[in-house]
Amino acid sequence: MDTVTPKTCYGLGPNHVVMGTQQYALDVESIRADFPVLDRQVGGDVTTPGPGEGDDTPLVYLDNAATSHTPEPVVESIADFYRTYNANVHRGIHHLSQEASVAYEEAHDRVAEFVGADGREEIVFTKNTTESENLVAYAWGLAALGPEDNVVMTQMEHHASLVTWQQIGKKTGAEVRYVELDDDGTLDMDDAAAKIDDDTAMVSVLHVSNTLGTVNPVEALTELAHDHDAYAFVDGAQAVPHMPVDVGEIGCDFYAFSGHKMCGPTGIGVLYGKEAILDEMQPYLYGGEMIRSVTYEDSEWEELPWKFEAGTPVIAQGIGLHAAVDYLEEIGMDRVHDHESALASYAYDRLTEWDDVTVYGPPGEERAGLVAFNLDSVHAHDLSSILNEYGVAIRAGDHCTQPLHDELGAPASARASFYIYNTREEIDALVDAVDEARQLFA
Ligand code: ALA
Repeated sequence: MDTVTPKTCYGLGPNHVVMGTQQYALDVESIRADFPVLDRQVGGDVTTPGPGEGDDTPLVYLDNAATSHTPEPVVESIADFYRTYNANVHRGIHHLSQEASVAYEEAHDRVAEFVGADGREEIVFTKNTTESENLVAYAWGLAALGPEDNVVMTQMEHHASLVTWQQIGKKTGAEVRYVELDDDGTLDMDDAAAKIDDDTAMVSVLHVSNTLGTVNPVEALTELAHDHDAYAFVDGAQAVPHMPVDVGEIGCDFYAFSGHKMCGPTGIGVLYGKEAILDEMQPYLYGGEMIRSVTYEDSEWEELPWKFEAGTPVIAQGIGLHAAVDYLEEIGMDRVHDHESALASYAYDRLTEWDDVTVYGPPGEERAGLVAFNLDSVHAHDLSSILNEYGVAIRAGDHCTQPLHDELGAPASARASFYIYNTREEIDALVDAVDEARQLFA
């Protein structure tokens, strides 16, 4: 099946590409041409989606940790599916159904290859990272956990894992523990070594914090889990879109991420699981597509990964995710990472020039491509509203990390998060708008 590739070949350019007066690790100008939404003007009526009257302020989109934009080749791949071979999968022997089935299965193969899994058997398509967490918590956790067990997470955990394992803990009696943080927002690995013990059944940790930008040592945490015969689950929602990830190298048992944060469509998440473990697990959802045979008395399950994909699956989304993986690999994940690190470092340096700004998490060069901060005199929500007046889109709130914000002593923070199409000029626009907000509230 042909795949749609980007118009330009970003991976083959020089090591650094100049745009304006800036040098970048990738060809930002060509990449931006694939994202028409970045040319939007905003500021007018929001009740009618799309450009309209009163939209006169150029968009500066810095909310990529919430969702990234979708390049034309990905939009095209989804439109092509609906225009030319839309059909349900695995249930028709007619031509279109076979084409759709091949494309859907190949999407699993492509994602498996992208994250270093052994094959499609280890890649389950879900709705999002949260559903991937819930799948393991319900299918494995409910059956395996008891009052003698504990589940270890971190204080920086996203609600997707924190709430899920917390609630499974309540249902099973398993204790839930949280590894503490050092002052710079990195994990206290001595505390991790103390909390992960022989009663630990699951260690569920973020790869990259969506609030602190901390990159966690997931290989070491996996090793600690395995030393105590526990499983390791890594939430990679903020990692896979932004850096090379190889689940084989990490050694974890489960790994989860979402399509919409990595140039793909909404409505698709991925659960990687080691084949032997997924084989042993019972299904999470029952129904069509996931069965091999059914009688009035009993049922047998389909082979992996379909056993975990009940009902009509996420066909168009899977095909779109395949195109998103092609798109990112064409750029090169090392370059994606280098570009974002440089932007995050620059944003960190500019924001920390001010004494009345608190930036959370480790220093610039050690963080992933996002910066959460607070301005002393302005609540994060007000700050976000003012930035919106300047066309600058950030996220304000607790970023689904309420307990972490309690630890930080801040009910909310403002967060700017970067991706392949962002520029230093956009960070300057953010900083200028923050300065305007400061003067407004002075
Ligand atoms: N978890 C996503 C975020 O951090 C939605 O914004």
